Amino acid sequence: STVALYITFTLLVTNWRMHYRHEMNAQESKANSFAVDGMLNYETVKYFTNEKYELKQYDDTLDQWEGAAVKSQVSMSLLNFGQGAVIAVGVTLMMIYAAQGVVDGNMTLGDLVLVNTMMLQLFIPLNFLGIIYRALKYALADMDMMLKLLDTKRTVKDKDDAKALNVTDAVVRFDNISFDYSNDRKILNGVSFEIPHGNKVAVVGPSGAGKSTLARLLFRFYDVDSGSISIGQQNISEVSQASLRDNIGIVPQDTVLFNHSIEHNI
Ligand SMILES: Nc1ncnc2c1ncn2[C@@H]1O[C@H](COP(=O)(O)OP(=O)(O)O)[C@@H](O)[C@H]1O
Ligand SMILES: [Mg+2]
Repeated sequence: STVALYITFTLLVTNWRMHYRHEMNAQESKANSFAVDGMLNYETVKYFTNEKYELKQYDDTLDQWEGAAVKSQVSMSLLNFGQGAVIAVGVTLMMIYAAQGVVDGNMTLGDLVLVNTMMLQLFIPLNFLGIIYRALKYALADMDMMLKLLDTKRTVKDKDDAKALNVTDAVVRFDNISFDYSNDRKILNGVSFEIPHGNKVAVVGPSGAGKSTLARLLFRFYDVDSGSISIGQQNISEVSQASLRDNIGIVPQDTVLFNHSIEHNI
């Protein structure tokens, strides 16, 4: 019954305290993203003198992380204490029984030593198993996010037999395309136009009208919901994304510099 109690206690408490570990991981990645965001966009933060605000967001998240970390540590001590207590009480009871047996004369001193040694042989590996089980659960909790990420389905996928885009006559055609980022708001509704080879076309419209979206669709960051986009008679959803993007040059809206040499940036 000691062994059964030990195992039940270990399983129950380890599972119960796992959510502190999940909480810790979640707060840690939240804090990291606040820190990285704040530092990447430091100019924006400074324009609006929001250093304190950013700092507070970061600090609050760290506070929550700290809370979860302390709870995790306390519950681990509780687990270790409980495991120790179960073993100590179990061994003590058995030794008392054995000693009683020796006093009553139905056990020899040798039997007493046997019981004691057997207990030690049994509980040392058992304790070890408890530690390994805990480490396993911890590792699984830490990998949880990554495993979920691996399960994510890609929305824009190359067809199995996708060919490379072969541009001879660079006519870009948007044929009656419709697109939305989320079902509740249509961004593009039946848009058609053609850019003949060697021509310039400007798309003019209010902010949020979907101009940049046209470029994103041309690059196939998203697939259109209906209609088709083609370059030189080839539907871009039929060709490989790498070949498509290799063939298009872009001057981005925001000029981003990598924190590296000019050569690397080029
Ligand atoms: N990743 C996105 N998820 C959801 N909505 C988006 C996303 N990107 C843009 N939008 C929305 O789509 C609309 C068109 O955006 P965009 O093409 O960037 O406009 P603009 O014409 O100013 O370049 C905007 O209303 C914008 O809020
Ligand atoms: Mg835009």
